[in-house]
Amino acid sequence: MNGRRVLLGVTGGIAAYKAAALASRLVQAGAILDVVLTADALRFVGAATFAALARRPVHTSLWERVEEIPHITLAREAEVVAIVPATANTIAKLALGIADDLLTNVVLATRAPLVVAPAMNTAMLEHDATRAHIATLRARGAEIVEPEIGFLAEREHGAGRLAGEDALVAAIEHALLRTNELAGERVLITAGPTREPIDPVRFLSNASSGTQGIELAREALARGAEVDLVLGPTSLEPPAGARTARVTTAREMDDAVRERAANATIAIATAAVADWRPATTHAHKVKKTDEPQSLALERNPDILANLGAQKNGLFLVGFAAETEALETSAREKLVRKQLDAIAVNDVGGERGFGAGPNALVLLWGVHGRKDLGAGSKRELAVRLWDAIVELKAERR
Ligand code: PMT
Repeated sequence: MNGRRVLLGVTGGIAAYKAAALASRLVQAGAILDVVLTADALRFVGAATFAALARRPVHTSLWERVEEIPHITLAREAEVVAIVPATANTIAKLALGIADDLLTNVVLATRAPLVVAPAMNTAMLEHDATRAHIATLRARGAEIVEPEIGFLAEREHGAGRLAGEDALVAAIEHALLRTNELAGERVLITAGPTREPIDPVRFLSNASSGTQGIELAREALARGAEVDLVLGPTSLEPPAGARTARVTTAREMDDAVRERAANATIAIATAAVADWRPATTHAHKVKKTDEPQSLALERNPDILANLGAQKNGLFLVGFAAETEALETSAREKLVRKQLDAIAVNDVGGERGFGAGPNALVLLWGVHGRKDLGAGSKRELAVRLWDAIVELKAERR
């Protein structure tokens, strides 16, 4: 934290008074603190408190010192932006990209990671709109510091109490740690399914949505990497900062990976590549007959095994989607495909494919094993990158 630029945004909730204690803690840890208070925050706390704690001017309006273009200056200087507490109103504005005051302008203009600590009444927190806005921010890579359950200003007990100071500091530290961690790394990620055409309207494929790979790409960007994403057919939008190549078949994915592999320092294969394709692709829709038909198949290239065979310093992480003997099967792939590590997930039940939660175990070497636990694919992307960074550092 020492010497790092932290921008603390305080919005108008009763928990705003706790932001002063957080400001003090951040300053004591050595942070250079810029504080932006919204107009509603000023109804709960005074600018003088924060100015004295930070020993720097506090910002309360888009229209002060206009000649300095404060929202752009603050946005560029910040290494992390932490909004503590974040009201339902500010969260909604951030999710929608509304910029109608200094703080929301700064958030829109910054490339620094965002930490958001919601605090509000339980019903407001649990409202579908708030939940959707929080999910949007999380999907964009913001670190959400979950509110606690406890005593609320309205003298009720429930969810919505601002997270404790330790959790807030840890989230800010984690965001700062991540910012440049992958600077200089060129990351290649495969994601999504492949489609192997039978005729113009039918194909062989699987249920992969591309979510896990897209989240890994988003997190790599947040940590300062350059990212090439080779993405199979999906309706999901890749992160804007990634160079994305959209492909359909396994052979197209193989070509796109080969073109990019020489430049990469880390490759992660989350794609669910079809191992087989129809031996013949019909030019016209195959007519229905009453007789059962058989489909002749031929092998697709193993994209990951090909990368493993010519690694040349590339740090290579595979995924294994298994339904039985999870770790034994994954370890066999780890060795056969010459990987540095493999993340295994159980796709036999509710989890694995799609936008929902997942659970991963990372395996490496003969006995290396780290349980990354269960969570959203966004959370697992953060944990997997933490583990990859650690593992790669150990290998040096
Ligand atoms: O996309 P989502 O909906 O978010 O779902 C995520 C996921 C379940 C697809 C993902 O977490 C996952 O497990 N991906 C790997 C799926 C898979 O195909 O596993 P596999 O055991 O068949 O293959 C092992 C590894 O070899 C994978 O890294 C795969 O990308 C790679 N492979 C496989 C076959 C092939 N022909 N070429 C490959 O590169």
